[in-house]
Amino acid sequence: MDARPAMGGERVRVYEVGPRDGLQNESTILSSDVKATFIGLLGDAGLREIEATSFVSPRAIPQLADADALLAGLDRRPGVRYPVLVPNVRGLARAEAAGADSLAVFTAATDAFTRANIGMSIAESVTAFAPVLERGADLGWWQRGYVSTAFGCPFDGRVDPRRAVEVALRLLDLGVDEVCFGDTIGVGVPGQVAELTGLAVDAGIAVDRIAFHFHDTRGTALANVSAGLDAGVRCFDSSTGGTGGCPYAPGAAGNLATEDLVYFLDASGWDHGVSLPGVLTAARFMAAALGRPLATKVGQAGGWPVTPVD
Ligand code: COA
Ligand code: ZN
Repeated sequence: MDARPAMGGERVRVYEVGPRDGLQNESTILSSDVKATFIGLLGDAGLREIEATSFVSPRAIPQLADADALLAGLDRRPGVRYPVLVPNVRGLARAEAAGADSLAVFTAATDAFTRANIGMSIAESVTAFAPVLERGADLGWWQRGYVSTAFGCPFDGRVDPRRAVEVALRLLDLGVDEVCFGDTIGVGVPGQVAELTGLAVDAGIAVDRIAFHFHDTRGTALANVSAGLDAGVRCFDSSTGGTGGCPYAPGAAGNLATEDLVYFLDASGWDHGVSLPGVLTAARFMAAALGRPLATKVGQAGGWPVTPVD
């Protein structure tokens, strides 16, 4: 069935965040070798944007304290981008020394969350990012800016979408190539995705510079992807194996799983270049490394029609 004949060749980008957003929220700390093998399997699966790690304070995120060695030792493939999170100029210097080629800065739509996450107000974070993004641009790196808590904040409750758009505009002014709106605590619903995208576009943000990062905390992530696609957005974040619970919702599901996203895109007729069996192989590897069964929907049920998994 060609469900989307009108889309003729339009491609959806599946932006993998498992090695970074997934693993930063897991209590098990994995070795650099295991992480590198996982990243290799993600490349085998056809993922072309793999957020590899974070150059943040190892005190803040001990799970990613090996960022320097991991990135420097990574078997990087041609045509694959490996963005890394960078909170300040110190992180940028570390990323540069480890041979990074792209970065993401991260702030939020609410001061309370930004302060809890990186110890700064939104305004202070933007000031801290300016020299980072200037240097990144000089190096020719692709740069992304995250706006977390775009729909809801664990401290401030529901978020006015205009606030998220304002923060995105500031990041774009500083030179990011793409802004990514994050539903950090997984509370958004499709109507809000449509509203936020509409406001962003009305504010002058090109739709191809918008990405979404949904968490499946309350089971709304794929519905939100669908709303994003309808609104013209073509980049969605996901985590293979669905790793990455939420520190503000103990026990809750984390990021949208890459296998669930890829099944949904395949069955809907979208072109994206990622192999579902390949993602499931990587997901099983990660579940075994974390010592627990794979809990994602497609990880449990498999694709359909059922395809053999290597
Ligand atoms: N890499 C390594 N260490 C860093 C660092 C970096 N990029 N930036 C700061 N540090 C170290 C400092 O040297 C200091 O170390 P010390 O405690 O041994 O003296 C410590 O981190 C605190 O630094 P400080 O400048 O006082 O900042 P802070 O305590 O306000 O922390 C951040 C600010 C941004 C460094 C910290 O909050 C952080 O790394 N947050 C990351 C959060 C995250 O990744 N969240 C998930 C992504 S959404
Ligand atoms: Zn996330």
